Amino acid sequence: MTQQIILAVTLIGMALVAIPFIATVRSSPGSTPPASWLTEVARRQLVWALSGLGFIVTVASLWVWPHGARAALDGQVINATAQQWSWEIDKARIVAGMPVTFNVHSGDVNHGMGVTDANNRLLFQVQAMPGYVNRVHFTFEKTGIYRVICLEFCGIGHHGMLDKITVIAGNN
Ligand code: CUA
Repeated sequence: MTQQIILAVTLIGMALVAIPFIATVRSSPGSTPPASWLTEVARRQLVWALSGLGFIVTVASLWVWPHGARAALDGQVINATAQQWSWEIDKARIVAGMPVTFNVHSGDVNHGMGVTDANNRLLFQVQAMPGYVNRVHFTFEKTGIYRVICLEFCGIGHHGMLDKITVIAGNN
């Protein structure tokens, strides 16, 4: 719904920008165009062809929009719930090279979900909050074991909030 509103606002905005241009072109006195190697007809055809090409490219590039929505189509969804002091991850095996949607939530206090690779490099982090579901899209490019850690101090067992996600090769 929000996407449709943004699209409508964008299109209206573009139309508003176009109006003064069209008005200026219409009100300008006719002048003799400079001599050109293209004939008048050929130039008009070129303008139409380029406009058409621009339109096709614009529509094609906006077709899947916003781009993150693709994750849900691929069906790789992980629901992660934080609770003092562990993670509940409903799908611990996912396929490399395809986007994953993380729905992150907390059953008690604020936690910070961080996912790191085998070298402890942080790949992304997202707050796990009571009363909210925070959504993140991420694509694991390599197979392997990834660590889930807690990045926000949440009590005495904070350091022990560790879990893992296994990324396996796809069948393609
Ligand atoms: Cu949960 Cu720190």
